Amino acid sequence: MTRKIIIDTDPGQDDALAILLAFASPELEVLGITVVAGNVPLALTELNARKICELAGRPQTKVFAGADRPLMRPLVTAEHVHGKTGLDGPDLPEPAMRLQDQHAVDFIIDTLRTKEAGSITLCALGPLTNIAHVLIRAPELAPRIREIVLMGGGFFEGGNVTPTAEFNIYVDPHAAQIVLQSGVPIIILPLDVTHKALTTAERVERFRAMGTRAGDASVALLEFFERFDEEKYGSDGGPLHDPNVIAYLIKPELYRGRLCNVAVDAANELTLGMTVVDWWRVTDRPKNAFYIRGIDADAFFDLLIERIARLP
Ligand code: RIB
Ligand code: CA
Repeated sequence: MTRKIIIDTDPGQDDALAILLAFASPELEVLGITVVAGNVPLALTELNARKICELAGRPQTKVFAGADRPLMRPLVTAEHVHGKTGLDGPDLPEPAMRLQDQHAVDFIIDTLRTKEAGSITLCALGPLTNIAHVLIRAPELAPRIREIVLMGGGFFEGGNVTPTAEFNIYVDPHAAQIVLQSGVPIIILPLDVTHKALTTAERVERFRAMGTRAGDASVALLEFFERFDEEKYGSDGGPLHDPNVIAYLIKPELYRGRLCNVAVDAANELTLGMTVVDWWRVTDRPKNAFYIRGIDADAFFDLLIERIARLP
């Protein structure tokens, strides 16, 4: 039984690898890709999503543009990390496939309404603006969502865009609050786990050895994307964030975490976007998220590499 997913994304080199992994994995059925402003503005993230679909040999995939800005905050982007196109590294051709006319939020709402209740998983790889819009406009649909699996937040590891905040949550903390308070089962893959999944030289060489279009593009994506974090952390390779969302769906046994309360600061400038994780359960706040801290990093890269090697 394949798992039906919608990927909400702001590509983004790491988003690209997550989407490639999803397409290469028969356990998953990608019903559509919804795009949000984040790493770069919406006009670029939607173009990048279509480029990635064609790179994967999946031009029939439905790509929907969504929110071009956060719920309340001004848009903050990350060209310094992802390059001015948001997908710097490989030289991918202009896509022939077109963008869907329907708005991303309408697509998610329609899909939740028409598919079997509890059969749809939302995979969030960027700011949570689109998903928050769904929950604001149609709160009655929350019980129909099987799970929201998201890359975002950080607690023991601190932040990556401020000392306390991770980028996806920081860009739209109000959207994150709405998602965390929705009552939908939530799985969080934060910096605490993605910082243990480093794109070391040895691992990048395994992509290069594929000798495929997807393998070569992955090398170019990783070598561009990792440079910023190698410089920042002085590490061999950079943390690979978004593919962990998809890998979790395929092999959850690679991960370790616990159900606990996760809250977001959406009010204070100093700690805006901070995910406050009650890991030691010192409060009686509701255990609203499965927060992941542990990973078998070697097995994660084995999975990612084995699957992407299946692509043309
Ligand atoms: O903080 C990492 C996250 O922000 C990843 O999703 C990356 O693509 C950026 O969106
Ligand atoms: Ca992303």
